[in-house]
Amino acid sequence: MTAPVRGEPLLSAERLTVRLARHAHSGPALVEDVSFEIGRGEIVCLVGESGSGKSVTARTLMGLTAQDRSLAVSGGLRFAGEVLDAAGLARLRGRELAMVFQEPMSSLDPLFTIGSQLTESLRRRHGGLRPAERRERMLRLLADVGIHDGERVLRSHPHELSGGMCQRVMIASALAAEPELLIADEPTTALDVTVQAQILELIDRLRTERGMAVLLVTHDMGVAAEIADRVVIMYSGRVVEDAAPRDAFFDARHPYTRGLLECIPPLTGERGRLTTIPGMVPDPASRPSGCSFHPRCALATDRCRTDDPAPVGEPGRRYACWHPLGVREPMEVNG
Ligand SMILES: Nc1ncnc2c1ncn2[C@@H]1O[C@H](COP(=O)(O)OP(=O)(O)OP(=O)(O)O)[C@@H](O)[C@H]1O
Ligand SMILES: [Mg+2]
Repeated sequence: MTAPVRGEPLLSAERLTVRLARHAHSGPALVEDVSFEIGRGEIVCLVGESGSGKSVTARTLMGLTAQDRSLAVSGGLRFAGEVLDAAGLARLRGRELAMVFQEPMSSLDPLFTIGSQLTESLRRRHGGLRPAERRERMLRLLADVGIHDGERVLRSHPHELSGGMCQRVMIASALAAEPELLIADEPTTALDVTVQAQILELIDRLRTERGMAVLLVTHDMGVAAEIADRVVIMYSGRVVEDAAPRDAFFDARHPYTRGLLECIPPLTGERGRLTTIPGMVPDPASRPSGCSFHPRCALATDRCRTDDPAPVGEPGRRYACWHPLGVREPMEVNG
């Protein structure tokens, strides 16, 4: 891990909320009041179990949930100090802001070869390049993501490649934009552990060489441990903890963060289930009262069942819990 240069954040998300539009402004929120910052050259990992709202958050940063008529989006986004509206996001997408989607097959066009899709990504960022230069860049991008028979891959259509290959092509396509911020949604889940390590190394190298910032979405705290400068933990559509990795790993405040740590998959690469916390992330339409995590939390009290804890602390060390770990609680005074 290389220490990032801190200063004005590259991106700040302020109270992002995404609701099902058919419920107007009172219905279930898929994500609610999500705030965090990403510094230039910083790798922030967004971590949480399936259904916690990671992809909805990532897609919102790209301005994609706002294009979905079934969703209502509110909150603020700033990029390099500039307030971003829909037009601003459209201008940055595929250039300063690029995303690797969770489902690589659904974001590659089945009708076009990988070569023509990479050409389009390069064109968007660099305009017209001479064919020889374009080809050289594409082969270099593919080599960067561990594809060494690039000539064949450029001629292939997506269905001729494995899921893992498609995922690498998607990463290459996002990197073609030379983004200032790469949003990568579970970019390594379909890949075996060796390739996963290669991709994480590549991301880390690009951050060091180009000062590229990264929002890496993962359900795996082990991945975050390897690469993150900061971890943002989501549960049930909310940020429950935002901390430096050292604090998240050795001094977590939220019991959910501690629970995630206990299910880091073993080094064999076997995928572990969350065995230490019983139950599942609630559906947004049937979120429990009070703290959403209370039905699964060994520390829950009556207050947790009725009152929703607001986040306390500052960006970079913030948590939302009535009974934070490692913090002495004031004595309850009755009467
Ligand atoms: N377009 C949509 N319409 C309705 N509900 C949605 C939509 N997109 C996501 N959801 C719901 O929002 C919640 C959060 O979904 P999201 O995809 O962000 O989870 P995630 O943390 O990325 O999970 P995973 O680890 O499985 O990818 C889920 O309950 C999901 O079913
Ligand atoms: Mg997801």
